[in-house]
Amino acid sequence: MKRIEFHDREREKKEIMDIIDSEPSLITFVYGPINSGKTTLIDHLIGQLSDKYVPFYVNLRGRFITDYEDFLNVLFEIEEGGVIDNVSEYAQSMIKDLKILSGIPIPLNLFEQIFEKKDKSKDMFKYIERFFGEISKKRVPVLIIDELQVIGDLKIDEFLIYKLFNFFIRLTKEKHLAHVFVVTSDSLFIEQVYSEAMLSGRSRHIRVDDFDYATTMDFLDEYGFSYEEKELAWEYCGGKPVCLVELINTRINNESMEEKVHKMFEVRKSQIRTVINELRLVGDELEYKGKKIEIVEERVLDALNSFSNIEYKNYDMLTIEEIYLVKRNILFVDAVRGILKPQSKLDLLAIRAVMRKLFTKV
Ligand SMILES: Nc1ncnc2c1ncn2[C@@H]1O[C@H](COP(=O)(O)OP(=O)(O)OP(=O)(O)O)[C@@H](O)[C@H]1O
Ligand SMILES: [Mg+2]
Repeated sequence: MKRIEFHDREREKKEIMDIIDSEPSLITFVYGPINSGKTTLIDHLIGQLSDKYVPFYVNLRGRFITDYEDFLNVLFEIEEGGVIDNVSEYAQSMIKDLKILSGIPIPLNLFEQIFEKKDKSKDMFKYIERFFGEISKKRVPVLIIDELQVIGDLKIDEFLIYKLFNFFIRLTKEKHLAHVFVVTSDSLFIEQVYSEAMLSGRSRHIRVDDFDYATTMDFLDEYGFSYEEKELAWEYCGGKPVCLVELINTRINNESMEEKVHKMFEVRKSQIRTVINELRLVGDELEYKGKKIEIVEERVLDALNSFSNIEYKNYDMLTIEEIYLVKRNILFVDAVRGILKPQSKLDLLAIRAVMRKLFTKV
């Protein structure tokens, strides 16, 4: 099967390269709608980095993290071997050989020491700071945590996420030891931390959105799409990379693209209908800021219906129904620009079709 090449992202690549070319000073949040290509971009960039950098890429997606122990196991790459007490010597011995790592290396005995402590975060941060401190004498550590919101609710004495943010501020703004990137597909998470006082002036945001029209056309041109095929793709997928890749594969396999988009459209409509039906039949509630709030079906329908003639809207404050729809992965909230919109073009079309049918029935 023909491999689909990485496409474009020149602007985002430059933004990230400019950041890591200068001294670490802010935490960088990478955000965007679901399946917009955030992880693929990071993956691609990591592969292109020169030896000057040491990337540590930790992906929390699909990891079952219910306590500190689980988190430590994901964050660190444990090295079995002899007993090592001196972190500086350990880090120095590795500097030259470090390639792309999916965790921060730690000797087993030091890991166990952290594990035994009551206040694990203190020792864990101390270790990482010393390790990065040593590495940064010769190379530039780049810590990337994908899907950090997975630990958003993890609380022992206080929320781990805030301890982490404080630590990231120390690594960047205060000590300038390492670059820190936080990637997430959870736009509500960004919405919540965006207005967080502790992060103000200490973080920046990079949006990785679906491709724009011209980029989408260029992408499809590479796979020989005709004008009509490109327009069909744009109509249903917009610039959503994952959707375009599906169509490219459909074309490569000589299957019908019309059937494919039709199928995708039907699936999405049925998923949205299911959300509405379940709400009608059994109701739903949303836990928000520690309170359980009942979701009112009519208001959810109104929120969906508001996209019948607009593609996005500006907001000052989200309503609880909008938050609910973001949580259900139907809407995407861009806290940085104050914009609310469907997660994808397919979502927009599906919302409109489902609403039309509902309202003509009434
Ligand atoms: N720049 C690109 N060039 C070619 N294909 C891409 C590109 N970006 C994304 N894709 C395709 O889209 C798929 C989804 O991308 P990816 O998983 O990176 O999105 P994401 O934004 O990280 O998703 P999530 O919101 O679930 O974390 C990839 O598996 C790849 O097939
Ligand atoms: Mg991702």
